[in-house]
Amino acid sequence: MKKVVLAYSGGLDTSVCVKWLKDRGYEVVCFIADVGQGDNFSLVRKRALKTGASKVYVKDLKKEFISGFIFPALCANAVYEGKYFLATALSRPLIGKYLVDIAKKEGAGYIAHGCTGKGNDQVRIEVTAAILAPKLKVVAPVRVWEFKSREEEMDYAREKKIPVDITRRKPYSLDKNIWGVSIECGVLEDPWKEPPDDAYQMTKSVARAASAPKYIEICFEQGIPCYINGKYVEGEELLKRLNKLGGDYGVGRSDLVESRLVGIKSREVYEAPAAVILSEAHRALENLVLDRDLLHFKEMISLKYSELIYNGLWYSPLKLALDKFISQTQKKVTGTVRLKLHKGNCSVVGRRSDYSLYKKELATYSKEDKFDQSLAEGFIKIWAMPFK
Ligand code: ARG
Repeated sequence: MKKVVLAYSGGLDTSVCVKWLKDRGYEVVCFIADVGQGDNFSLVRKRALKTGASKVYVKDLKKEFISGFIFPALCANAVYEGKYFLATALSRPLIGKYLVDIAKKEGAGYIAHGCTGKGNDQVRIEVTAAILAPKLKVVAPVRVWEFKSREEEMDYAREKKIPVDITRRKPYSLDKNIWGVSIECGVLEDPWKEPPDDAYQMTKSVARAASAPKYIEICFEQGIPCYINGKYVEGEELLKRLNKLGGDYGVGRSDLVESRLVGIKSREVYEAPAAVILSEAHRALENLVLDRDLLHFKEMISLKYSELIYNGLWYSPLKLALDKFISQTQKKVTGTVRLKLHKGNCSVVGRRSDYSLYKKELATYSKEDKFDQSLAEGFIKIWAMPFK
């Protein structure tokens, strides 16, 4: 019998996938990744078995997701098209890696996913498999099956007695993990329309956010956030706390018409409170401790790094080489940043570090000034010489 490992979420698409694959002669093993989406996993596991899975793996990948994917992206200041902190994109190479691992363990020749043929996620999962296990075959039911609408899928689910949540048609398509939420479809498909408040899952609107500002201090060690207000906080707890805090102050929303790898422009709304806070803080610290050349060169690398993540090339040789560069740049990114959260804004208001390159005696306009201004004349003459 052909055996397939399916990346399963418990939603309509992947539930229908289980049955559809079984109907085509596959034994279906379901894999559920916990990347901090906060689902009821014992319920999802039961649903998979009831739908016909022969076996279900539920894996808590939060630790690995944070240390191996989220924090490296933070150190790289990875943000796609200026607005998207890549929450969904970062989770796919991790999920792909475990699909491959489980397939090996199960002796399965196939992996499957519930992605459509129009998005980036199919690419991310399949490129991951191509790099890590080139012989594995991929089945993508949603890309090829006969259903032309959600309604047709529902009819099939009813006919095949697939247990799905049909309480109420969800107005949006959501993808959630500990680094953020991606929200699309429904009214959001009109790029001229303002996202309604019910689109947002984890942030308050500016109007409902607290009126008094909130100050926090985040301390980084070699680029990794470790302390909040002087107390050590481990990664998962740190992200949870900052998501909650940022969300309460209306921080972390963005609205983007983005360029998908397959050539489509699509409108997506994102929420990533912890990502916004940490990225503001991290960049402020880099501004303080990295020399100009490295800082500016790293900006170009950030852009490329973000594209590589977005385009599914997490395990590519270029991305792996850039990782070495980025970790080298983080050696002195140790210090503390003070931020103010207020009515949807997150601003850096203070920074300090033992590696600070800021020298008051050089920058000051007071009588403590140690900068020899008379040298500037000669410097500029030589700097300008080629243009004369
Ligand atoms: N546009 C984002 C990306 O390509 C998110 C995709 C999934 N979004 C969703 N709402 N299901 O990474």
